[in-house]
Amino acid sequence: MKRIPRERDWWRDAVIYQVYPRSFADSDGDGTGDLPGVTERLPYLAELGVDGLWLSPFYRSPLADAGYDVADYRDVDPRFGTLADVDTLLARAAELGLAVLVDLVPNHSSDQHPWFQAAVAAGRGSPERARYLFRDGRGADGGLPPNNWRSGFGGPGWTRITEPDGRPGQWYLHLFDVHQPDFDWSCPDVRVEFESVLRFWLDRGVAGFRVDVAHGLIKAPGLPDLTLSPEDLASLPTHATPFWDQDGVHEVYAAWRRVVDSYPPPDRVLCAEAWVSPPERMARYLRPDEMHQGFAFDFLGCRWDATSLRQVIDTELRTMAAVGAPSTWVLSNHDVVRHASRLGTADPGRVTGGIRVGDPQPDRALGLQRARAATLLMLALPGAAYLYQGEELGLPEHTTLADQLRDDPVWIRSGHAHAGRDGCRVPIPWSAHAPGFGFSPTGASWLPQPPEFAEYAADAQAGVPGSTLELYRTALRVRRAYRLGRGRLAWVSPVRSPVLAFDISGLRVMVNLNSAHAVLPDGWSVLCQSGPLAPDGQLPVDTAVWLTPSQPCG
Ligand code: NOJ
Repeated sequence: MKRIPRERDWWRDAVIYQVYPRSFADSDGDGTGDLPGVTERLPYLAELGVDGLWLSPFYRSPLADAGYDVADYRDVDPRFGTLADVDTLLARAAELGLAVLVDLVPNHSSDQHPWFQAAVAAGRGSPERARYLFRDGRGADGGLPPNNWRSGFGGPGWTRITEPDGRPGQWYLHLFDVHQPDFDWSCPDVRVEFESVLRFWLDRGVAGFRVDVAHGLIKAPGLPDLTLSPEDLASLPTHATPFWDQDGVHEVYAAWRRVVDSYPPPDRVLCAEAWVSPPERMARYLRPDEMHQGFAFDFLGCRWDATSLRQVIDTELRTMAAVGAPSTWVLSNHDVVRHASRLGTADPGRVTGGIRVGDPQPDRALGLQRARAATLLMLALPGAAYLYQGEELGLPEHTTLADQLRDDPVWIRSGHAHAGRDGCRVPIPWSAHAPGFGFSPTGASWLPQPPEFAEYAADAQAGVPGSTLELYRTALRVRRAYRLGRGRLAWVSPVRSPVLAFDISGLRVMVNLNSAHAVLPDGWSVLCQSGPLAPDGQLPVDTAVWLTPSQPCG
């Protein structure tokens, strides 16, 4: 495969594949995916046609939140490999022309991080405590949490420690799990440390960072109680809360931009994971001197409805263009119900919470048909796109996982109200007939794979016309050849039409979200299709096509 050097601003239309190392490929047979496993499969990613990969955390961690609880930002957890394995992975990726982004988790560390351990040991008022958000409790004996903030996973957002003298002491803030104490970003040590962590990985050769909870680092001064009702929270801008999307985050990212820009081209990039609304607030993260990309989560959470999709796409393109940023599309990741399943439920806009065996089960065939159409829509849009491992196989969510096997802290902390995210994190099926579907040489797998994964195995789809894997390969090849990610979208269908149609880079894209077949225009031939056409040549419901002007005969 010929390696084409990356353009300086390659990220503007890049397709990045998210690898969740724990569940991608296990080289040593212990049932947990690892970095050598990723390296072995890099040729598969190159052949798929993506521009790079983002590795979810592989750092030293107790895995209380699957690695988003980092105990050492500069080392690899032995379960995932070693720093030498990272170097091997980066070298192989470079040979294949693949950019590698790593995950950066700056909002919180693990409670096993030496800084947190030192903070607990050092006592009230110490410089060590100043790196985290320790506060005295309320009430006569300090027995009540300092404020009423809740953890995003459920339960209180504060936990009380025992002081070195054995007495009940201060409380620390954790917007996520109890094992994930939030840093205090007003402390200079924290800023210096993270700039150093950025350089550590940039010096090793990474192409950039996906920034976890990018909207969470700064909290409102004085940590005031949250006074908004659930209705307010649903309707008000995210920054109406005292802990999300506070203005102070932007100077952090401007400083990081200076760090990444100090490296030679091609550009090293920052991609924001920021669940903020309205979109204008998201655009602030993507101003020219801040981050390069930020996930368009409104697209991920959009209903399967033409008018809604068009509105989300238009708003996203308009608001990001206003700051000169590309849109960064995404349909699935390790936190949401896989889109092949979500789109087969009655409420595709419900992305989190997971699906349990007793819940209404997704319609697998319908979900997959829509997922393939949604992917063709996404990959035709201007901007960058992120894929989540297994979506190129049309992999569904594991919706019948036994509750006692659940690992996600969401399951525990929500008091079993939410199944959590394990269903989208099940190890990948590579071979239909191998033990563990080829995930691991021994067949071991940290979460069990459902038997139906055999149908989706990569080796059952490779080279099979019409398979989801071949659809992704074709779409990525055509997208690159026509530079769709750099194109300008021009709607052809009228507003509120249930059939979306637009032109981009000389191609016409159509997605039928109607309840009846749609007529394809004369003078165009099908270049790529998410499913078979009807016998009369029309476009079936829940199907998408990319069309090219027909060559005149003779
Ligand atoms: C977002 C990550 O994607 C998710 O997996 C994690 O649980 C939270 N941030 C907390 O780090």
